[in-house]
Amino acid sequence: QELKFNLEQIEKGGYEHFMLKEIHEQPNAIRDTYRGRLLAKEGIIRMAGIDDNIEKFLNANRIIIVACGTSWHAGLVAEYIFEDLARIPVEVEYASEFRYRNPVITEKDVVIAISQSGETADTLAAIKLAKSKGAFVFGVCNVVGSTIARETNAGAYTHAGPEIGVASTKAFTTQITVLTLIALKLAKANGSMSNSVFHHHLQELELIPEKVKEALKADEHIKKVAEIYKDAKNCLYLGRGYNFPVALEGALKLKEISYIHAEGYPAAEMKHGPIALIDEQMPVFVIATKKGHYEKVVSNIQEIKSRSGKIIGIVTTGDVDVKNVADHVIEVPETIESLTPLLTTIPLQLLSYHIAVMLEKNVDQPRNLAKSVTVE
Ligand code: G6P
Repeated sequence: QELKFNLEQIEKGGYEHFMLKEIHEQPNAIRDTYRGRLLAKEGIIRMAGIDDNIEKFLNANRIIIVACGTSWHAGLVAEYIFEDLARIPVEVEYASEFRYRNPVITEKDVVIAISQSGETADTLAAIKLAKSKGAFVFGVCNVVGSTIARETNAGAYTHAGPEIGVASTKAFTTQITVLTLIALKLAKANGSMSNSVFHHHLQELELIPEKVKEALKADEHIKKVAEIYKDAKNCLYLGRGYNFPVALEGALKLKEISYIHAEGYPAAEMKHGPIALIDEQMPVFVIATKKGHYEKVVSNIQEIKSRSGKIIGIVTTGDVDVKNVADHVIEVPETIESLTPLLTTIPLQLLSYHIAVMLEKNVDQPRNLAKSVTVE
């Protein structure tokens, strides 16, 4: 017993929980993900799984992404990235729905399956179905040699290292990193991105680990915000565009480990329902970074404020407008729009973590949840 305890302490590397350790590992994890793949100076992205199958991707009518949980959220971010940067139509499906829906799939479809563990039963079943219809299936997995990694036609590992905390953190940001690399590679190959824009994206991506490190420095401030809202019964998370899936992921993190009811919504959909929930008891976390529908989000914030909702804005460093109306702001460094999810996710992870710790929940092993779900 004592030995096990000590081993666990060592594995946690000085952090109180695996989740906190994994949150802080993200700068290195993201760097490990693009190491050897992203050659920013040369203007090259090297990924054997894509290079060897480039025709399949270039001839695809569309890409269908299948995944569950947090990986599904990474898929939603990828939808914005692929469509915006590479102009390839993308559909994102819950693997569990896809497999039972008699979906229309042909040999002209490329299916990307995203799975941290590589063992999720629904995702695996979706892959088998897609393969049986002749689609080319590409895996984005973290666990090397996992079932999904073996069942797919080709793939790319995230190289995030072992993720022990049940609530996924570094797996999510590294999945987005891999999917960004793929999208950029395809954008270059199909001519939808000019050389100079391509180079600019590579340079910006290379800066992300340092910026994640910067975002992590807000930890003490985030802890104070967590203290103020830890007793909330409901929370709303809003974002638009690239940051809509981040809002979903933020809400999922809070639900998973603190057991507080939380919902993620596209900010503009608020007026079609969730706005009815807003009163002075309701904290609303709004992702309002400078790039990406900023003015629209600011006006959404004003709508919440005029109904006495409490606003916590995730903003770009140096922001003024949101700061003026919000109750609190948490800053993240500036980057190009398509890369903002890699930064805006960070404070939301920390916030959930601190709230769960303050509520004395089992952060690394929340009730009723499993790290990998190998049954239906
Ligand atoms: C479980 C985990 C989640 C994870 C999901 C999908 O529900 O608790 O953290 O996002 O499965 O897992 P996968 O390994 O396929 O990414």
